[in-house]
Amino acid sequence: MSLSMVVKAHCKINIGLRVVRRREDGYHELQTIMYPVRELYDVISVEAIEGSDVEFEGRGIVVDCPVEKNLVVRAARLMQQRYSTRGVRITLDKRVPFGAGLGGGSADATAVISAMNDIFALGIDRPTLASLAAELGSDTPFFVYDTPQYCTGRGEIMEPVDVDLRGKWLVVAKPQEGVSTAEAYSGVRPAVPESDLRELVAHPVDKWQESIVNDFEAHILESHPRIAQIKQSLLDAGAEYAAMSGSGSAVFGIFDQQPALNLSADTFIHIEQID
Ligand code: C5P
Repeated sequence: MSLSMVVKAHCKINIGLRVVRRREDGYHELQTIMYPVRELYDVISVEAIEGSDVEFEGRGIVVDCPVEKNLVVRAARLMQQRYSTRGVRITLDKRVPFGAGLGGGSADATAVISAMNDIFALGIDRPTLASLAAELGSDTPFFVYDTPQYCTGRGEIMEPVDVDLRGKWLVVAKPQEGVSTAEAYSGVRPAVPESDLRELVAHPVDKWQESIVNDFEAHILESHPRIAQIKQSLLDAGAEYAAMSGSGSAVFGIFDQQPALNLSADTFIHIEQID
């Protein structure tokens, strides 16, 4: 194995998100389906270097965060502490918007953990990679498995779920404004859902709008009318299903055909056909 790697860390959307209860540790018990977005990703290069430094260079979208707090740097430090690896130089080309509910930072952290496992031939198995990732966030372990998962606990307990969207068109759209995780959780009212998301998602996509809910939407769409507007535009353009992803502010739409969109020029837009 060469001592450097370039990896694509692609993001996710949440198909439904129920906030079930607040836990004593301050986290919330969730029920959600995470679905990988294959063509929207950050590009990360990880290279082994002499000594024990973690060097970081950012490109692309500028992340407003001190280097030591950047999840890729924290992921590298975690691997160094646990496995006594050498230093690494990480270049992060950021393309996935943040403050979006797309898990971009989490995907990056998990990509660095996996890349260091490969570069240093550590032989760590997937469950252990997932638990290392879980030390850095709640949706990080999802990116170890990278197929549609029904996620519970704080998001880290996963079971594979069959969501077949092949051939559909996926649009991810985000206004310039972001939503912080803190804002999303502070306005939510936890409740035990009556229906099982795994059953709802087994119905045809054009039935989802009437049954699959993101519990953050009610208050976030009210305080961020621009997000509500984008969701409505996706529905107007013929989306079979449109919803906010995670804690927002990104919204996604699933279409049967390639849509003609009418969104303002300052909206981030990603379109792909799912294969
Ligand atoms: O784990 P992560 O860093 O993604 O979470 C950021 C914050 O979001 C947590 O500190 C917590 O306040 C909130 N959170 C939560 N319940 C979850 C996941 C996150 O309350 N299941």
